[in-house]
Amino acid sequence: MADSKASLSIDGNVVAELPILKGSAGNDVIDIRTLGAAGYFTYDPGFMATASCESEITFIDGDKGILQHRGYAIDSLAKQADYLEVCYILLHGEAPNRTQYDEFKGIINNHTMVHEKLVHFFHGFLPDAHPMAMLCGVVGALSSFYHSDLDIHAPDQRMRSAHRLIAKMPTIAAMAYKYSIGQPFVYPRNDLNYAENFLHMMFSVPAEPYVVSPTVARAMDRIFTLHADHEQNASTSTVRLAGSSGANPYACIAAGVASLWGPAHGGANEACLTMLNEIGSLDRVDEYVAKAKDKSDPFRLMGFGHRVYKNFDPRATVMRETCHEVLKELGIQDPLLDVAMALEKVALEDPYFIEKKLYPNVDFYSGIILKAIGIPTNMFTVIFAMSRNVGWIAHWDEMLGQPGQKIGRPRQKYTGEINRKFIPLSER
Ligand code: CMC
Repeated sequence: MADSKASLSIDGNVVAELPILKGSAGNDVIDIRTLGAAGYFTYDPGFMATASCESEITFIDGDKGILQHRGYAIDSLAKQADYLEVCYILLHGEAPNRTQYDEFKGIINNHTMVHEKLVHFFHGFLPDAHPMAMLCGVVGALSSFYHSDLDIHAPDQRMRSAHRLIAKMPTIAAMAYKYSIGQPFVYPRNDLNYAENFLHMMFSVPAEPYVVSPTVARAMDRIFTLHADHEQNASTSTVRLAGSSGANPYACIAAGVASLWGPAHGGANEACLTMLNEIGSLDRVDEYVAKAKDKSDPFRLMGFGHRVYKNFDPRATVMRETCHEVLKELGIQDPLLDVAMALEKVALEDPYFIEKKLYPNVDFYSGIILKAIGIPTNMFTVIFAMSRNVGWIAHWDEMLGQPGQKIGRPRQKYTGEINRKFIPLSER
C-alpha cells in the first residue's frame, strides 16, 4: 500500500510519480516499477540502495546493530534456542512448541542419510579438491535423485526439499572432508543433535569411539545459528535469482554455495585464517595493520568490516563471547590465536578502523573458534554454507509462495559500441 509519493523531476519536468511503500520496519522503499515506461532505469551496481524483494524473514538495521529472524533477536536465538529451532522459525515464521519441535527434529532425522549412489560422485573428485567444489557439485547433483518430487509450485514438495537439504547438507559436508583426508565416510547418528551429529561425521573413525565435547557442540551450534540467515546478501540473492526462473531447489542451493565461496562473502573466514598464517607471529601484527591502512596496497584485514553493519555486528558480539569461552575451556595454546587476539585489539583501538567503522565481523571469530576445535581451514566456508542453507531455502520458498512472482531480470546502463557496420571477414 502506498502511503506517500515521490515525484521524479528531470530539468524541472515531473517524469514520474512514484509510490513510497512502508515495510513493518526499516527504510521505506520508492516503488520504481513504472519508471521503465517513462524511459529511465535506476542505476545501482552493488545494490547499495535497492530492495530487490519483499520479505518477512529477516530484519537488519545495520546502524543500530539489529538482526532479527521473524522478529526474534539474534542474541536470544543464539543463547536460548538451538539451530533446528531456528530452522523451524525461519521456515515457518513462528517458534515451535515442544510437539512441533520434536516432530520437526524427527523429520530432519529421517532424511540425514544420502543415497548410496551419491558416494560415487565423491570418487570422481581429485583428493585435493576443495571441499566447497565438492559441496557445490554434490548438492546440485541431489536434484537427479528427486525428479518426481520437484514441483516447485506445490508447497508440500517445496517443504520436503527444504527438509532434505537441511538434513543432508551436514552429511555431504562431512563426506567432502573425509574424502579429502582419505578416511571412510561416517554415517549420521540420529540419536545425536544436529551439531553433535556433524562433529561425529567429521571426526569419528571406525577404529575408535569419538566422544563429542558439549562445549564444542554448543559452539558449533552457535556458529550454525549465527550464520543461518542474513536477509538479501549475495548468496541469498543468488538463490532467489536462480529460483526466480523456476530452477529446482537443489540447483538453486548449489548456486548459493558458489556465490558464498568468494572471499568477500563466506570465504572470509578461510581467508582470515590464511591471513593469520601469513602474519605468523605477534611481532608482525603492526606491519599488517599498516598494510591494511595503506591505500596503495590492496591488502585488507580479512574478517574486518561489513557492508551492512557500520557500528557493530550483533552476531560478532555473541560469537566473540563464545570464542573466548571456547579458547578458555579448551585451554588451547596456539600462536595464531595469539595473533588473532592481538589483531582484534589493535584494530579496535586504531583510529583508521574506528573512523571507517571496521570492526571484527562474525567470520573473524567463527574462524578462530573453528580452528580451535580442530576444523581444517578449507572446511570453514563449507560450514558457513551448511548454516546458511536454511536461510537460502526459506527465501526460495517465500519467493515461490508470493503471488505474482516474476523472473528476476535486471537492466543495465549500456556503454558499448552501437550501430556499427559489419564488414565480412573476407574484406577485413
Ligand atoms: N581492511 C582494511 N580496510 C578496509 C577493510 C578491511 N577489511 N574493509 C573496508 N576497508 C576500507 C576500504 O579500503 C574503504 O576505504 P576508503 O573509504 O578509504 O576507500 C572503506 O573501508 C570502505 O570499504 P568498502 O569496500 O567500500 O566497503 P564495503 O561495504 O563495500 O565492503 C566488505 C564490505 C565486507 C566487503 C569489506 O569490508 C571487506 O572486504 N572486508 C574483508 C572481507 C570480509 O571480512 N568479508 C566478510 C564479511 S562478513 C560475512 C558475510 O556476511 O558474508
